[in-house]
Amino acid sequence: MSIIYSKNKFSEKNLNLIVSLKDYSNLGFAKEVKNLELFKGEKEEVFQSNEIKESSLIKTLFVGIGEGKCNEEIRKSLAKAVKLIKKDKTKDINVYLDFNKEDEELTKKVLVLFAEVFTMVTFKDTVSKTDVEEEKEFTAYVFTANEVNNGQEKLDYGVNIANGVNLAIKLVNAPPNDMYPEAFAKIAKETAKENGFEADVITYSKLQKMKAGLILAVGESSENKPCMVVMKYNGNGDAPYTALVGKGLTFDSGGYCLKSYPGIASMHTDMAGGAAMLGAITAIAKNKLKENVYAVVPLSENLIGETAVLPGAVATSLSGKTVEIANTDAEGRLILADALYYISQKEEVEKIFDMATLTGAAANAFGGICSAIVSNNDELYKQLEIGSIKSGEKIARMPLFDEYRDSLKSLKADYKNLGNIKGGGIMTAAAFLEKFVNEKAWVHVDIAGVAFSETEKTYTEPGATGYGVKLMYYMLTKEF
Ligand code: BES
Ligand code: ZN
Ligand code: ZN
Repeated sequence: MSIIYSKNKFSEKNLNLIVSLKDYSNLGFAKEVKNLELFKGEKEEVFQSNEIKESSLIKTLFVGIGEGKCNEEIRKSLAKAVKLIKKDKTKDINVYLDFNKEDEELTKKVLVLFAEVFTMVTFKDTVSKTDVEEEKEFTAYVFTANEVNNGQEKLDYGVNIANGVNLAIKLVNAPPNDMYPEAFAKIAKETAKENGFEADVITYSKLQKMKAGLILAVGESSENKPCMVVMKYNGNGDAPYTALVGKGLTFDSGGYCLKSYPGIASMHTDMAGGAAMLGAITAIAKNKLKENVYAVVPLSENLIGETAVLPGAVATSLSGKTVEIANTDAEGRLILADALYYISQKEEVEKIFDMATLTGAAANAFGGICSAIVSNNDELYKQLEIGSIKSGEKIARMPLFDEYRDSLKSLKADYKNLGNIKGGGIMTAAAFLEKFVNEKAWVHVDIAGVAFSETEKTYTEPGATGYGVKLMYYMLTKEF
């Protein structure tokens, strides 16, 4: 797949896409279909015209983006058209952004959004299939009514964001026998090398020396030992860092509190938070954002067996606090607690985000539409909210009352990994994490309901959605 900015005058190919606004002073390329009232340019409106010219079929898709004000409206509109293009046999398409000549900002924005959507919608994750049809290699030549001098840069910028999402999707879809802690860490290291950021792996033996007792308690159940990847991107000198911490459970069987089928069969996706943070830092580095970012992924399997942690066991966390592991299936908060504590100890870290497929409660609460947010800091939450609007990835904030904090009392340890109230699973899990952030500004994103979908989504095929990459990216960039 390639997207090429073309400075020549727009010329028709066998397959063309005309992107049009609802209001356009001289009706532009869509003049005829608009005059005939076949097409208005409303958001998500698509009209296809077929013409025979010199014995060849010219297909032209007109897509409306309405007023062109909201990023997600623009993306959704473009996705509708790109899905039709994906089904077509034609490999090369000409795309024309037909905006008013003076609309330079809009042109630049839609170049980025088109590249994002085109890269995501045409992405096919074939995983391990052997009988796949050969994929067609798309090339989109993009023309703009308003010629901009950094057109290719804008397209590449959008491709880089979408490639971060596609990387996360690939990792989450990979089967658990391929995607174990060390395999994830290896990919993180390779990705870092290719994209200009650092990645260190804290190995199993280092975790033992550090006494990261909660990661070790979860991970000791498996031959595939746990580890933790610490990635660092320096794009803004000595400025403070934002830390992105993602749950990297490469398989969650529930441990002795064993899960049952069919739920257990999708638990290779329990590293989606970690994959999203890796995808985000990759896009951030590739687009050279002026930000300082850490991404931390604690990686572990949660299995059953002779060495697996027993329900009721007490483990000592990296912070020194003791935890009663009342339920071995509440393992995400355990590995995250050590990772959060580890990164919160760094002086240069000012803000912390964590992302995790943490609770069934979050998966059930919102019907797969949004993630659940819990935060100890209104200002940082606001920053995420802006990122959500710009990225189109929806969020809903939940409260963090003292009652949730108090529900984690244990009779035999400092805390229990389970709330002793009925319900409130999203908040009790978050309240547990809060105990390990060193009182730093922190936002927790529970993606249990949105990381994976049985059905096709706006930009993705059934399977992993890559949710969270764009949320983190747009939260950290100052651009549109
Ligand atoms: N990985 C699961 C959460 C999950 C459930 C993710 C469904 C995606 C879809 C997590 O580790 C878990 O098992 N949580 C338990 C916690 C409970 C034992 C307190 C849950 O939510 O049931
Ligand atoms: Zn679990
Ligand atoms: Zn889990």
